[in-house]
Amino acid sequence: MPRKIIIDTDPGQDDAVAILLALASPELEVLALTAVAGNVPLALTQRNARQIVELAGRQTPVHAGCDAPMKRKLVTAEYVHGKTGLDGIPLPEPTLPLHPQHAVDAIIEALRAHPPGTITLCPLGPLTNIATAFRRAPDIIPRVAEIVLMGGAYFEVGNVTPAAEFNIYVDPEAAEIVFKSGVPLVVMPLDVTHKALTSREWVEEMRALGTPVGQAVASWTDFFERFDTAKYGSAGAPLHDPCVIAYLLEPALFTGRHVNVEIETVSELTLGMTVADWWRVTDREPNAMFMGSVDRDGFYRLLTERLGRL
Ligand code: RIB
Ligand code: CA
Repeated sequence: MPRKIIIDTDPGQDDAVAILLALASPELEVLALTAVAGNVPLALTQRNARQIVELAGRQTPVHAGCDAPMKRKLVTAEYVHGKTGLDGIPLPEPTLPLHPQHAVDAIIEALRAHPPGTITLCPLGPLTNIATAFRRAPDIIPRVAEIVLMGGAYFEVGNVTPAAEFNIYVDPEAAEIVFKSGVPLVVMPLDVTHKALTSREWVEEMRALGTPVGQAVASWTDFFERFDTAKYGSAGAPLHDPCVIAYLLEPALFTGRHVNVEIETVSELTLGMTVADWWRVTDREPNAMFMGSVDRDGFYRLLTERLGRL
């Protein structure tokens, strides 16, 4: 029985690879993609999501969600992802229509329609859609099996401010709602995603697939990598969001610690910081499996094998 998931996303080249990995994997049933404003505005993230679904040759419903954080102005990241959010390779105009139902209503409806504990939420961007759904329909919270998200940073420190990772920083109030919801959380912070670096060889492996998916992934990674290598001097770019899907497929690739994680929502200096009580110096309840390392080669082997199926 495939695991039912909803991917909440702000594509974003790394979101795109995560979505393709999920669509290529029979262990997962992607009920829907719900787009959120993040890397680029909502009009683009919903369009990008539809292009990615079509690139995979699927009809997975795509819903547009919140176009701004709950309480703050939207901060985007065109400097990383390009003006379309999916720069790297021109893709055909999407023909898959945008689903008319708002993403927040789609999340609420899906959780009410399926038995409790059967849907996993996989947020890959700011947590605005998820938190808005929890606020609007608290009855759905205990029905969520698990949330596996990309976001946060602790030992690795921030990527958008010295203290905060982008997804959490864009909507810290939403992140606070999700991290305090009581839903079992698995968190893929920069601590682990910065160890999931691409390589020249792997990008060439993608190109050598000789498929539209292989071409697209190679071009997105080339584009995405130029920013990270310039900033971190690393060879290769961190494929953040695919870590979420890889965890669902092969959890043993990742190791971390079940600790308390709380979100800074007040201080301007550290806004959006995920404060992980890694050494358990407080009596705050552990609420998240906070990942710290990944079998990098195993991760890329899984990616190559699965993306090769599309
Ligand atoms: O900080 C990395 C995260 O921000 C990734 O999800 C990337 O797609 C951007 O949304
Ligand atoms: Ca993302």
